[in-house]
Amino acid sequence: MPASRTGTITAPAVQARKGNGEPLVMVTAYDAPSARIADEAGVDLILVGDSVAMVVLGHEDTLQVTVEEMAHHTAAAARARPRAMLVADLPWLSYHLSPPETVRNAAALVRAGARAVKLEGGRKRLPMVSAVLDAEIPVMGHLGLTPQSLHAMGGYKVQGRERAAAAALVDDAVALADAGCFCIVLEAIPSTLAREITEAVAVPTIGIGAGPWCDGQVLVFHDLLGLEDRITATFVRRYASIKADAVAAVAEFARDVRARRFPTEAESYGGGHTGAGLSGSRRGGSKTA
Ligand code: KIV
Repeated sequence: MPASRTGTITAPAVQARKGNGEPLVMVTAYDAPSARIADEAGVDLILVGDSVAMVVLGHEDTLQVTVEEMAHHTAAAARARPRAMLVADLPWLSYHLSPPETVRNAAALVRAGARAVKLEGGRKRLPMVSAVLDAEIPVMGHLGLTPQSLHAMGGYKVQGRERAAAAALVDDAVALADAGCFCIVLEAIPSTLAREITEAVAVPTIGIGAGPWCDGQVLVFHDLLGLEDRITATFVRRYASIKADAVAAVAEFARDVRARRFPTEAESYGGGHTGAGLSGSRRGGSKTA
């Protein structure tokens, strides 16, 4: 795990942002370059989300990713040594069996570089939440549309529309906050309910598809950059079209190669053995001797 960087944002610092006016900003990242981009952009929190299963690993849902894979991606993001607080998702079935197993899995993510873990669900997860907190690992809650419950919920559906379901979500949020979660993600619930929950709990809420009243907002890196263009959820705002730009750039490279416009002599090495190596830090790097 990389050494700590001074000035990194901590769980108590995030918690202290409750009600102080400026919304928290969280974005997902799954490797060193994406964590570096998010950090240079000045976000408060970087989430190594289990959405990695879908947006990076090509799975149909988030249920396929393992603790080992989450640790692998967490370690890659941590190598960017972000100032933002790095949070890692506990994947499906890593916190469902027993508190000791949950703590072991949370510890694997902390050893990979996470400063907190996120897990989905409300009151039924309290024994696991308490065990992880007892191991001194900050916990972020996640309520509403919890994608790991895809099959139980009958699909990706907005949650909390019925009064009883809404009341249960408020109770879940209060229970998670009272148990010691430093922050709670609210996903795909009506904005009025998100507002009610935000007012009911003493810790920040971070919304995704939960309207403007949360204490912060999160988006998936690939969605906000337009790197993932297959799914367009109502709540996604695209700030770039990186996939389209990337396809155009690779197509231009292909045209240049096929037309023998690439490489030029200036992009090639002269003859004779000088003994000089590549000065770039990697093979094919842009800095060459
Ligand atoms: O895995 C993820 O990307 C998430 C966010 C949607 C909050 O959990």
